[in-house]
Amino acid sequence: MSGDRASPVCYGAEADDVYMGYAPRDEIMAALNELLEAERAGARVALGSVGDAVSADHAAMMRTVRADEARWCAMLSRQIRRLGGTPSRKCGAFRGKAMAIADPIERLAFLNRGQAWVVRRLAELMRRVRDDALHADLRDMLESHKVNIDSAATFLDANGPSPNGAV
Ligand SMILES: [Fe+2]
Repeated sequence: MSGDRASPVCYGAEADDVYMGYAPRDEIMAALNELLEAERAGARVALGSVGDAVSADHAAMMRTVRADEARWCAMLSRQIRRLGGTPSRKCGAFRGKAMAIADPIERLAFLNRGQAWVVRRLAELMRRVRDDALHADLRDMLESHKVNIDSAATFLDANGPSPNGAV
């Protein structure tokens, strides 16, 4: 049928991107939703850690992390919708694993390792994203995570006995 000539243009553009090493749309969408679920988990862990924080500094840091994670949830949801996808409503399994850790300092170290995982995933994804607007948002998210990881690592160094949570 004559309509067959129309769609290959679209798919052709994506095929060119994939040939050049950029991720196909489905792969980007899956990665963004995985990050969204991880950030939602991070936000809930941070919020759940305010109550048993060991100091005012710790509580303030958890509130900051919670606000940042919520901000990245909103950004990821917005980008997923802009790219024609549906944002996941799930919360990552990380939340349950983290909240099962009773010691607030050990939980913070675990949270920081989770944040380092997010940084690695972002770096991998950014290498494969061609879209400038998405790339810029992912870079902001990565840089913000690095700042929070450093703050938590400094706090953990001063508040042992757990080793530095940064990876
Ligand atoms: Fe995060």
